[in-house]
Amino acid sequence: MFNKRYFGKGKEDGGPGKEEEEHVESLFTVLKHINSFILSDYVPWLRPLDLEGHEKIVSEAMRILNGYHDPIVDERLKQWIEGKKKKPEDLLDAFILAKDSNGKPALSVEEIKAQCTELILATIDNPSNAAEWAMAEMLNKPEILQKATEEIDSVVGKNRLVQETDIPKLNYIKCCARESFRLHPIAPFNIPHVSNSDATAAGYFIPKGSHVLIGRRGMNPNIWDEPLVFKPERHLKDGWGSGGVELIENELRFISFGVGRRGCIGAGLGSVVTIMLFARLIQGFTWDAPPNETEIDLSESKDDLFLAKPLHALAKPRLPDALYTQLEC
Ligand code: HEM
Repeated sequence: MFNKRYFGKGKEDGGPGKEEEEHVESLFTVLKHINSFILSDYVPWLRPLDLEGHEKIVSEAMRILNGYHDPIVDERLKQWIEGKKKKPEDLLDAFILAKDSNGKPALSVEEIKAQCTELILATIDNPSNAAEWAMAEMLNKPEILQKATEEIDSVVGKNRLVQETDIPKLNYIKCCARESFRLHPIAPFNIPHVSNSDATAAGYFIPKGSHVLIGRRGMNPNIWDEPLVFKPERHLKDGWGSGGVELIENELRFISFGVGRRGCIGAGLGSVVTIMLFARLIQGFTWDAPPNETEIDLSESKDDLFLAKPLHALAKPRLPDALYTQLEC
């Protein structure tokens, strides 16, 4: 979003600095509370009491996020106004330069700041969670990891990094990511919706005004053979379009991006971010469980659907050295 990183002091390997750690922690605090249960969603007059303390927690996290974002946005705007910047380089520049039909700026400063935060929030949790779970599952099933690695080696080779243009051909990789979304969505339920008229969906009558929560996982044994097992092959079938396997699930047998009017507007970008992150992890390293562990513990956290213990694994580079220092990667 901002073309900017904060490396840790003395971390020559480019590891995250305390600013990045604090930033990511605050983002995940906000995200956690988007999906969490709160009584005042159902009894609105309780809201001023902030019984669960969520407003306080989220306000503090937003204060930290804005503390990082706002100066960057303000400084960038200044650079454009003073003519010090001439070429758009990232999404922030695109927001600043966007014009309405009268040629006036399409977004106010406040709107630019809100859009930046919205996009950062929308893009960070799903791809990282899907890639982490897929890697954890695959470390326990080396034959799947091997197959995924072989696909990348045959489509891309070892002398350049995976690019977005390779995505249509990386069907097995996409099956692994899709399987991760089916089994391990970031949250058990889709974002809550309220029906604004009587409706019937999937055989259920939904009266006007209902608060509708739809399960995201694809666990129905009438639909999925061995639903609890990580089996990427299940997604390989004829009938995918020219782009091959997709991460979106149009039949809603599980929810990756949702569909229809309230479906995710970022399904294309979200798919690319997920696949690129995941494919480059697999292409770039051979992966093993840590030396003192025979397999990865796949227990879910008690509070959410993340891995109970963040994935620790042994990664060894498998590509020519020069590829790890390419700036454009
Ligand atoms: C792998 C990445 C992503 C996943 C799995 C994902 C998933 C979802 C899901 C399940 C919904 C709710 C759909 C519904 O209620 O039916 C949603 C909504 C939304 N997503 Fe995403 N998303 C991803 C990335 C993104 C990105 C990159 C953006 C922005 C560029 C984005 C923007 C949004 C917005 C604005 C909504 C709300 C739409 C509305 O309520 O009208 N998402 N997303």
